[in-house]
Amino acid sequence: MAKPDQKSIGVIGARGHTGQELLSLLLAHPRFSIVFAGSRKLAGKPLSALADGLGENLKFEDISPADLRDRQFDALVLALPNGMAAEYVAAVDEARPQSVVLDLSADYRFDKSWYYGLPELTRRHASGKTRIANPGCYATAMQLALAPVADVLAAPACCFGVSGYSGAGTSPSERNDPDVLANNLLAYQPAGHIHEREVSHHLAGPVRFMPHVAAFFRGIHMTSALTLTTPHTVDELSARYEAHYHGEPLVKLSRDIPRVADNANRHHAAVGGWAVSDDGRQAVVYSTLDNLLKGAATQALQNLNNAFGFAESEGIPHG
Ligand SMILES: NC(=O)c1ccc[n+]([C@@H]2O[C@H](COP(=O)([O-])OP(=O)(O)OC[C@H]3O[C@@H](n4cnc5c(N)ncnc54)[C@H](OP(=O)(O)O)[C@@H]3O)[C@@H](O)[C@H]2O)c1
Repeated sequence: MAKPDQKSIGVIGARGHTGQELLSLLLAHPRFSIVFAGSRKLAGKPLSALADGLGENLKFEDISPADLRDRQFDALVLALPNGMAAEYVAAVDEARPQSVVLDLSADYRFDKSWYYGLPELTRRHASGKTRIANPGCYATAMQLALAPVADVLAAPACCFGVSGYSGAGTSPSERNDPDVLANNLLAYQPAGHIHEREVSHHLAGPVRFMPHVAAFFRGIHMTSALTLTTPHTVDELSARYEAHYHGEPLVKLSRDIPRVADNANRHHAAVGGWAVSDDGRQAVVYSTLDNLLKGAATQALQNLNNAFGFAESEGIPHG
C-alpha cells in the first residue's frame, strides 16, 4: 500500500533480470511503493522467493492485461520480452489513461508518440510524458559514447559490443548457457540488430553494431571506432566529452579504458579511453555499463523520477 506522499508502481515481468533489479531499487526508494509484482512462474510466492532482501510482505501475482482494470497504480512498468507490451498498454489506455507506462522492451522505442528516455541525451523532452520507452542496454552504451562526436562523424561509427549473458534474459538459450559460454565468445546478429536500428534512429545517423556475448554475467563493453570529419587530438576529444557530460552524475569519464568489472553492479556508465590515429581522423572511444542497471533498471528509475517531478537521481546511489 502506498503512503499518501508516495507514487504506486506495478511491475509486470518482475521475475526477470531487469524486473528484479527494479524491484530492489523501488523498494529502497522513499517516494515509490510497489503495489503489485507480476510473474506467472512465482505467483503466490513472496518477493523474497526471488532474492533475499526483497521482503515477505508482497507476493508475486499472475496479472493479465484484463486484470489491470481492477488495479490502482500511478505507474506500470513492463519488463517483458519484446513483442508482449501492446495488450498491457491497451488495457492502461482504456482503464487508467492518466497513468505512466514505462516499457523496458524495444516495442515502443521507434514510436513517435512515446518519449524515448535516455535522460542524459533526451531529458529536455521528458516533461509531461506518460508513455516512456526505456532504451536498450547496448543502445545506451553506444549513444553515450557517440553523442559528443555525432556532429563530426564522417562515416558510420563501427561499434563492437560484448555483453554479459544476463543480457539474454532468463529464458534458456545458447546465449545464456554457461556451458556454451565457458572459455568462449559468441558472435550473433552481425547486421540489423535492433539496437543498431535504435541508435541510428535516435542519433539521426547510421551506425554499425556487432554484438557478442561472453561468459561474465553482467556488464557491457563497447568499442566504438570513429572516422572524423576534422582531425582531433586525444585532448580535444576528451574536452568534447567533458563539455557534453559536465554535471552528469551517471556518466563517468576517464582517460583509461573503462573495464566491465570496475563498473558492474554500479549505476553509472563509464566512457573514455580515447585513442587517435597519427592523422587525427580515426579515433576510438570505449564505454561500459551494467546492462541491468544503467542499461535497464537504473535508467527506468531516472525516467520514473522525471515523470513524477522528483529529482532525477533520487533513490539512485552513485559516487
Ligand atoms: N537483460 C538485459 O540486460 C536488458 C537490458 C535492457 C532491456 N532489456 C529488455 O527488458 C525486457 C526484460 O528483459 P529481462 O532480461 O529482464 O527478461 P527475462 O529475464 O527473460 O524476464 C522476462 C520476464 O517476463 C515474464 N514473462 C511474461 N510472459 C512471458 C513469456 N511469454 N515468455 C517469457 N517470459 C515472460 C517472465 O516472468 P514469468 O515467466 O514468471 O511470468 C519474466 O519475469 C526485455 O524486453 C529485454 O529486451 C533487457
